[in-house]
Amino acid sequence: MVSELTCLPIRFNFKTFLYRLAVNRVYIKTYGCQMNERDSEAVAVMLRNRGYSIVGSEHDADIVLLNTCSVRDQAEQKAIGKAGYLTNRKKKDPNFIVGIMGCMAQNQGSDLLDKLPDLDLIVGTQKFHRVPDHLDNIIQTLEGQGPQPAKLVDLEEEADSQNTIREHIEEDASVTSFVSIMQGCNMRCNFCIVPKTRGNERSRPIEHIVEEVEELVANGTREVTLLGQIVTSYGRNILPFKNKKSPFVQLIERVHEIEGLHRIRFTSPHPRGFKQDLIDAYAYLPKLSPYVHLPLQSGSDRMLKAMNRPYRVESYMKIVDGLRASAPDMAFSTDIIVGYPGETDEDFQETAQVFKQVGFNMGFIFKYSPRSGTVAAELEDDIPKEVKEARNHELLKVLEEQSMHSNQKLVGTTQEILVEGPARKGENMFMGRNPQFRKVIFPASERLVGELVQVKILESSVTTLKGELVLEGVEQNEPLLTV
Ligand code: 5AD
Repeated sequence: MVSELTCLPIRFNFKTFLYRLAVNRVYIKTYGCQMNERDSEAVAVMLRNRGYSIVGSEHDADIVLLNTCSVRDQAEQKAIGKAGYLTNRKKKDPNFIVGIMGCMAQNQGSDLLDKLPDLDLIVGTQKFHRVPDHLDNIIQTLEGQGPQPAKLVDLEEEADSQNTIREHIEEDASVTSFVSIMQGCNMRCNFCIVPKTRGNERSRPIEHIVEEVEELVANGTREVTLLGQIVTSYGRNILPFKNKKSPFVQLIERVHEIEGLHRIRFTSPHPRGFKQDLIDAYAYLPKLSPYVHLPLQSGSDRMLKAMNRPYRVESYMKIVDGLRASAPDMAFSTDIIVGYPGETDEDFQETAQVFKQVGFNMGFIFKYSPRSGTVAAELEDDIPKEVKEARNHELLKVLEEQSMHSNQKLVGTTQEILVEGPARKGENMFMGRNPQFRKVIFPASERLVGELVQVKILESSVTTLKGELVLEGVEQNEPLLTV
């Protein structure tokens, strides 16, 4: 009897086949921002297309890739700890593969090998698309079939790398998707390592982005978040202004035309680039959701200057007021750094004051962390740890109060909710968000996923709202749950 194997091409190697079956399960762990999430998703798709399978846990994986963050020391330490733990596993299982990708790979490069000599792969922020080739090479080497991989460390800049983050996972298309519109950052905030890890600004063409969103919508996406380090700089120096509209506003207008898309969000804009054309867009583009994450960093002009942030509190407040004039129900979140070198109690109190004045109900408060290679790293990190801690705590308390208060005000109102999917807890419970990005939990059914529904808010907590569907034409006493 002719065995099936003899029918296969001569170069087929049964041992390799079994080996590949055994080693191609990849787990990607992501640290840091949404850009990293999006990069990881794109790497996952590229690997799947190459025959690897993506698994949801490191325990089920033969290859673990850590997509890392460098923005604070703590983020790097976490990833290094994890990588150390993982490379230990190689002692028992020499075929286990561990790689580090993204910002920390870019920031530390081959120095990482001093701390983690057993790492297999270090891939920088412009080289995510090379991961499948690198893994193929490493596997071939482990199989004894190939030479030592030429590049274990791949960190070079690559022209057009901004155009490589485009593929999405189609099978489980989500209602809400991230779309990378640009890479890099040309700002030079004194505290920030991102220009070093992500390189200079490079934008994708409008047409490519529109095509990507169209495909996502065809697969069920109803909300996109346009991503970039500084989205307000999108297309600058490549695309001209049209009717006084910046390239970013032109992009939003084009995405807005896509039928079937319900909501558009973006992150992060920069106060310096947030001009009147973008403020006005909120008044005439109904899909543009009234929620803006606008990093303030400090409410003290003295500190803004020290940080090399090119705006002042007054101009920041003008944007906030302008946006509220365009969209009265606008919600804001922000990033704040406490304990930047030289920050006095007065500086901090000014920050707290602006924080209350804007009424942020979401936000991230960071304790300053010196990053080598930045301008601020040359300054003495003179604010004691306890002071940073106390300032952080004080702002978090204000944030909690403001968030609680703004959620309480919604009780009794009816909100338009985009249904994202089942809630983490509770049978028949679903999760969605209102236009201002507040999370709402309510009983519903699977068929409403991806739909805009009306939900009456019944309860609130600091982070979450609970409610019930308001179905048109249904009497109040009729059951609201239709399955
Ligand atoms: N220390 C603390 N926070 C930082 N951020 C950036 N660099 C640092 C640093 N060195 C914060 C900023 C930025 C956010 C992504 O991280 O607030 O907006």
